[in-house]
Amino acid sequence: MATRPIPRDGSFDATVGLVRDPYRYIARRARELDSDVFETRVILRRTLCMTGVDAARLFYDSARFRRRGGMPAPLRKTLTGEGGVQGLDDSAHVHRKRMFLDLMSRQRLDVLEAIADDEWQAAAARWSSAKVELYAASQAILMRAVCRWAGVPVEDDEIEQRTQDLTAAFDAAGSVDPRRHLGARFARRRAERWLAELIERIRAREIVGPREVAAQAIAHHRDPEGRLLPPRIAAVELHNVLRPTVAVSVYFVWIAHALHEHPQARAALVGAPDAEFEHFVQEVRRYYPFFPAVAAVVRHDFEWRGFAFRRGTRALLDLHGTNHDPRTWDEPEAFRPARFRGREIGAFELIPQGGGEHSSGHRCAGEWLTIALMKRALRHLANGLDYGVPPQDLRIDHARLPALPRSRMVLSEVGRA
Ligand code: HEM
Repeated sequence: MATRPIPRDGSFDATVGLVRDPYRYIARRARELDSDVFETRVILRRTLCMTGVDAARLFYDSARFRRRGGMPAPLRKTLTGEGGVQGLDDSAHVHRKRMFLDLMSRQRLDVLEAIADDEWQAAAARWSSAKVELYAASQAILMRAVCRWAGVPVEDDEIEQRTQDLTAAFDAAGSVDPRRHLGARFARRRAERWLAELIERIRAREIVGPREVAAQAIAHHRDPEGRLLPPRIAAVELHNVLRPTVAVSVYFVWIAHALHEHPQARAALVGAPDAEFEHFVQEVRRYYPFFPAVAAVVRHDFEWRGFAFRRGTRALLDLHGTNHDPRTWDEPEAFRPARFRGREIGAFELIPQGGGEHSSGHRCAGEWLTIALMKRALRHLANGLDYGVPPQDLRIDHARLPALPRSRMVLSEVGRA
C-alpha cells in the first residue's frame, strides 16, 4: 500500500509556537490537523511531533527510535549533561540503567522517606511562623535529604551554592533568556567538577560506604567491559540522581497549589487510607505541567498508520498533552484524584516521567522515588503543618519551563499542626 504524507504544521518552523506555549502546542496542532503525528521544524531541524497513547507506544519501541542525537544541544549542556544514560541505546543503555534501578529498592526508598521526614521537621522548626516561598524551601529540604541518602557529603557553608547549581540545571535549562541559560551551563560545569572530585575520593577510599548508596554504587560501577566510568561521566550520573530529586520541589509546589485550589479533593484526604494519598499524587502528576516532551530519532524507515517515517528524523513525544488527552482521560482539565480509584494505569497513559518499561526503555528511573517523596510531602502539607495561603498570584505560568504558579506558592504563619 502506498504511504501517505505526514500532515505538516502550517508554520515553517514551530520553535516560536513551542516557546510560547510549550505544554499545549503539540496537542493543539495535532487536534487541528486531526492527526496524532505531524511534521514541522524545530530550530530549523525537521521534527515529528507525536501525541496520545498510541503514539507513545510507538515512540517507546526502541527498534524504531533511538536516543543518540535526539536531545537538542542546549538541553544536553544544562539539563541532562553529556555521556549519561539518557543518550545511550541498546545493551549499553540497559546495563547503565540497571545501575540506577538497583538504587531504588523498597528498602532504600523507605530510608529516603525517613530522611525526608526528618528534613521536613527540621525545616518546619526553622520556618517558625515566617512567610515561606515553598519552591525554594522545598529545594533546601530535598537537597539535604538526597545528599544524606546518596552518600554525598556537603558542608553547611556550601549547601546553598550547590543547591542553586543543581536547581539551575532544571529551572533555567529551558529559558530563552541567554543569561539564565549561560548561568545554567556554568552551574552544571561547577556541579560536575564537584561530583567528579567526590567520585575520585570514593575510589581512593577516602570516603567509604555501603554499595547500595548512590555515590558508592556509581563510583564503583563497571561498564560491560569491566571498566570504571570516567570520573566526568560518573559525575553526570550522580548529577542524574541529585538534580531530579531536587526537582521534585516543583511537584511539592503543585501539591500545595492543588490542596489550596481544590478544597474538596483536600477534604477527601481526612482520615483516608493510603490509596487516596496515592491517587492525589497521581492526579498532581497527570494534571500539572512539568516536562512538556521527550526527544528521539527515527532509527530506520518504517510505516505507521500509512505514514512514512524517515530515518534520521527527530521526534518529540508530547508528555503533557498525552496526560490530558480526552480519549484517555474523562474531563482531563478537571483535577479529580478519584479518577484513579480502581483504575489500572496503562504504561503509555500517565507519562509525566516517560512511558513504557523502566528497565528496557528510557522511562524515568526515579519515578517510584518521586511518588514516595510526593506522598510524604502531601502528608506534611495536608496534615502535618499549619499554614495560611496569603493573597498572591497563583495562576500557572505555562510559558515558563518548568511551569510554576506566578507567585511560586507562598505560605504564611507556618508551624506544626
Ligand atoms: C521531579 C520529578 C521527575 C520528573 C518529572 C522526571 C521526568 C523524567 C523524564 C520525562 C524522563 C525522560 C523519559 C524518556 O526519556 O523517555 C526521565 C528520565 C530519567 N529520570 Fe526522571 N523525573 C523525575 C524525577 C527523577 C528522580 C527523582 C530521579 C532519580 C533519583 C530521576 C532519574 C532519571 C533518570 C536516571 C532518567 C534517565 C532514564 C533513561 O534514560 O533510561 N528522575 N525523568
